[in-house]
This record gives sequence, structure tokens and C-alpha cells, in this order.
Amino acid sequence: VAAPILGSISCNFSNHQSDTCTMEGDLRIHGKSATVYVVSVSTYRPENSTIKLRPYARKWEDQVMQLVREVTVRSSPPGADDDVIPPECSVRHDVPAVVFSTGGYNRNFFHVMTDVIIPLYLTVREYNGRVQLLATDYEPNWIAKYKAILVALSAYPVIDMDSEDTVRCFPSAHVGLESHKELSIVPGLSRNGYTMASFRDFIRSAYSLQRPRVAPVSRSSGRKPRLVLILRRNSRQLKNEADAIAAATELGFEVVAAGPDDVSDLERFSGLANSCDVLMGVHGAGLANMLFLPDNATVVQIIPWGELKWPCRHSFGDPVAPMGLRYLEYEVTADETTLNETYPRDHAVFTDPVSVHRQGFDKVWNIFINGQHVILDIKRFRGFMEQLYQTITTE
Ligand SMILES: *[C@@H]1O[C@H](CO)[C@@H](O)[C@H](O)[C@H]1NC(C)=O
Ligand SMILES: *[C@@H]1O[C@H](CO)[C@@H](O)[C@H](O)[C@H]1NC(C)=O
Ligand SMILES: *[C@@H]1O[C@H](CO)[C@@H](O)[C@H](O)[C@H]1NC(C)=O
Ligand SMILES: *[C@@H]1O[C@H](CO)[C@@H](O)[C@H](O)[C@H]1NC(C)=O
Repeated sequence: VAAPILGSISCNFSNHQSDTCTMEGDLRIHGKSATVYVVSVSTYRPENSTIKLRPYARKWEDQVMQLVREVTVRSSPPGADDDVIPPECSVRHDVPAVVFSTGGYNRNFFHVMTDVIIPLYLTVREYNGRVQLLATDYEPNWIAKYKAILVALSAYPVIDMDSEDTVRCFPSAHVGLESHKELSIVPGLSRNGYTMASFRDFIRSAYSLQRPRVAPVSRSSGRKPRLVLILRRNSRQLKNEADAIAAATELGFEVVAAGPDDVSDLERFSGLANSCDVLMGVHGAGLANMLFLPDNATVVQIIPWGELKWPCRHSFGDPVAPMGLRYLEYEVTADETTLNETYPRDHAVFTDPVSVHRQGFDKVWNIFINGQHVILDIKRFRGFMEQLYQTITTE
């Protein structure tokens, strides 16, 4: 009889974004009960023989975390005269396991990238495909949508943990994913020196994108800078999109309009975005498609009315420069919103939006984030676009 393998566990619950545990030794994962058994832990302590964590990187948002299944890590001491009776292995893997969730805000592209895909890259990429992904809250549509990325990260199909009665054994595992910041990687925090530049190289390779960087567009060549305009269909619509497209076209842009159906097919849309020099849209998840742009392309965020500059910058402004892209914002005025259909112009919504912010996030959400559409002042917009055209083209 071979000597038992001694195991180890190390957890970090002090990260703001996510709880994570890494472990080694004799690990047995039973999917249906979402339990990871760690046998013969050399540093075993009774007080943490059972550790519970939700493997989703948005720890500070209680509501969404409730949608994520809790995973239990149970350890037993060497000698195993403990009440933990680990089940026998039915399948043995010789690669590390990574347990994550495809739940949470799983229909929102910005959240999927921020909360799952970038964290997966940070946690899994170093294994060069020799790693087994196991998903709780398994969503087949999600797995299908992000297939190109998952295939580039792991040589094996993702396992649907929740439905599995099989006991799978692994030499090591990560439960929960490393995560740093909205749509970002903080180079100093990555063990492997990953950056958004390396992540974007990875994405380009996963989707076979052809343009690593934009080439300056010469006006005399007759070439036009290509602009993709992301159009929303629920809140924050661009009410006069046809006029905006006409104005940009007249100024010399080739405009491609992209609605929700266009952006949802990532295999197709990643290539389209990569063929563009500018990506523009009203604040919203679709702006995260900037990930597919070539280096030195420009992102234009249209910021709706209501003192939203700082939150908008936080999600889609600050992450831009570290991706090697240029950032511009067009902040709408009180004359470029549909809020006048609900509130008179002398209402605090117009005269003192900060006072609305003081009433709490729900108010901000209902009025400014979800309660308005944008109607661009085409004359003002033209001036803005003309300047953009000058800066991204040469003689
Ligand atoms: C186990 O418990 C000790 C003390 O209670 C704690 O310092 C340590 O971080 C815990 N280990 C894990 C893996 O949670
Ligand atoms: C745990 O995470 C915190 C916050 O990210 C980090 O500062 C700390 O170094 C980590 N601790 C360990 C032991 O890795
Ligand atoms: C609201 O403002 C828009 C944009 O300035 C304008 O086109 C519209 O006529 C206004 N509606 C009302 C009800 O005042
Ligand atoms: C990026 O684009 C700007 C504006 O067109 C240009 O001035 C700059 O030289 C470009 N940088 C690189 C590295 O191509």
C-alpha cells in the first residue's frame, strides 16, 4: 500500500472581488452536491474542515451572489479517523480542475467579460489548455456563446457540475477565479505578468482576428475610417440614430450599425469590430466589444444625462487606455434626453441631478440609467465627429 498523498489548501477571502481556494493532493469532486473533498490535509484544522464559497467574482454584490451556487470544500486530516468519508473516485484526471460559475449576470456581455472570462484567463491560461473546467449554474447557451474562448483555454469540454453524480479526482484544483477590476487586469496583481494587452492577444487568437492595430487612414487615398455604432433596443436607445449615421457618413466615416442581434454572434461580430477604427455607443454592456478592436482604435462613450460621468468612466473609460485604445466621451446635455417627456425642465432631474444621486442608487437607476433615451443634437454631434475624423486621419 502506497503512502497516502498529503494534501494542502490555501484560501484567500480578503480579496474584494472574489473568494478563492487552491488545493493539492488527493482531491475528489462530487458535482451534484457541489463538494470538493481534500483528503489527508497536512495542515488540517478542525475549525476549517468545511469551507463554503461562491465561485463568482462579484463578491460585493449580495444580490447577484445569491444566484450563484455555493461550493463546499471539506478536508480530512491524515489518518482519516474523521467524520468526512470521502467517496471513491470513479474518474481520474491528471490535470488541474477549475471550478467556476456560469450564473450571475450571465446575459450581460460586460459582466461576462469582467466577472468570468477575464478571471478565467487569469486563473487558467498558465496551464496551456491542460486544465479541466467545471461549471456550476451550468448554462448550455452560455457555453455555446463563448465556445471559441473556452476551447482556447481548455482542451476538454466544460463539465456541467450540478448534474454530475460521478466522483472525479484531480491532483490540484482552484475553486473561484482570480479577479482584479472592471474589464481590467492589474499587472502587479497577476502572478504570471498578464496584462490587458496579453489578454487581447489571446482574444484575437481565439477568434482569429486579423488586425492587431489600426493603420492611419489617409484622406487622399479615398479610404474611410470605419465606425461601428452599437445600438441598444431597451433603455438608452439612440432615438435619432438615422440622423446620427447620416451625419457621420457625410463627414467621411463608413458607419456600420450593430443592434443586439448583430453583437450576440461573437464569431461574426468580433471580426466586424476588429475591422473598425472606432466603436461608439451610449453607455452600456455593448461597449465591452472594444475588446475586439485593433490597438490604437478609438472608443466613444455617449454618456446619458444625469451626472453619470464618473460611473460611466469607471466601467468603460478607465479600462480603455490599458487596452492600447483611445478614449473619447460625448456627454449629452439636458437638451439631448427624453427625460423631458416625464419631468418638467425646472425639476431637480434637470436642475440638480446630484440631488437625485443623494436619494440612492435605485433612483439613479430608475431615472437616469433605465429611464431615458438619447436624442443627439446633430449640430453638436457633427462638430464632435468632425474633430474625431481629423485626429484619426492623415493627409
Ligand atoms: C483555517 O483557520 C485558520 C485559523 O482559524 C485560518 O488562519 C486559516 O486561514 C484557515 N485556513 C483556510 C484554508 O481557510
Ligand atoms: C489575498 O488577496 C489579497 C487581496 O487581493 C492580497 O493582498 C493578498 O496578498 C492575498 N493573500 C495571499 C496569501 O495570497
Ligand atoms: C424633449 O427634448 C427633445 C430633444 O431636445 C425634443 O426633440 C422634444 O420635442 C422634447 N419633448 C418635449 C415633450 O418637450
Ligand atoms: C495612434 O493614433 C493617433 C491618432 O491617429 C496617432 O497620432 C498615433 O501615432 C497612433 N499611434 C500608434 C502607435 O499607431
